Amino acid sequence: MARGKPKAGSAEHRQRFCRGFIDSHLRFEPERLAWPALEPAMLQRLREVPFWQEVLYTEMRAIRIIEAFAPTIPDPLVREAMELMAEEERRHERLVRHLIARYGIVIEAREMPPLPSNIERTFIDFGYGECVDSFLGFGFFRLARESGFLPQEMFDVLEILMGEEVRHVLFFVNWMAWHEAGCGRGAAPLRALTSAWYYARAIGALAGVALRNARHRGNGREFSATQAAGLMQGFTVGRLLEACLEENRRRLDAYDRDLLRPRLLPALARIALGFTGRGGRRIREENRQAF
Ligand SMILES: [Fe+2]
Ligand SMILES: [Fe+2]
Repeated sequence: MARGKPKAGSAEHRQRFCRGFIDSHLRFEPERLAWPALEPAMLQRLREVPFWQEVLYTEMRAIRIIEAFAPTIPDPLVREAMELMAEEERRHERLVRHLIARYGIVIEAREMPPLPSNIERTFIDFGYGECVDSFLGFGFFRLARESGFLPQEMFDVLEILMGEEVRHVLFFVNWMAWHEAGCGRGAAPLRALTSAWYYARAIGALAGVALRNARHRGNGREFSATQAAGLMQGFTVGRLLEACLEENRRRLDAYDRDLLRPRLLPALARIALGFTGRGGRRIREENRQAF
């Protein structure tokens, strides 16, 4: 049923992004998913992936932030959706812990620093962080799946986690617009400026994580350059950006197309691809449409 785009910040907008999120929630138990048996070479590959510690830590931090923020939300429907998001993040932590235990991945324990006192701002930073992580993560995931780096059955299991993150991003982007409108900052140019500021912070935070991991070499242990090369076979920035754009569009298109979408990163990726000459006219054409 075509209902048209709801006005950002309106009661209909809130109803659509909250209900869309709640109604698309899946029921499953991480431990009962079809985890594949891995032959020794594949098992070794999986264990050498350098970021399991970071993935687990990110999920644990997400839970703490959403659990702290949700009870402060006065609107019952938004709070219900936010509590469901916390439940999904708790399930992500279980999924990652199960993967680590089942395949004997060794990670070092890591301290979880206390949350900053401004929980709303922390949640917003976290939300933009998820937008950046997902945009890049979806592209990496597609390239890794295509390269056959691990058996397809393993990607099928991890796909469930990816599928939930795209719903989180869609919910967050719309919640943010609704929230800003409620604070009298609903004008589109103002929202775009606010987004750009938070995206810059999120990208800065991601760069910090990349630097820290480069120093600690992943999972808190050594990770050799040869292992990294094996993981990134055939990798180019152009291929990655194209995969990011296609995957983000494909995944978001599965949900209510009248809701707001993240726009800054796809626009930046198209500009970057235009500069590298990949996709030429098609990319420039899409770029015009995006603005
Ligand atoms: Fe998650
Ligand atoms: Fe999430």
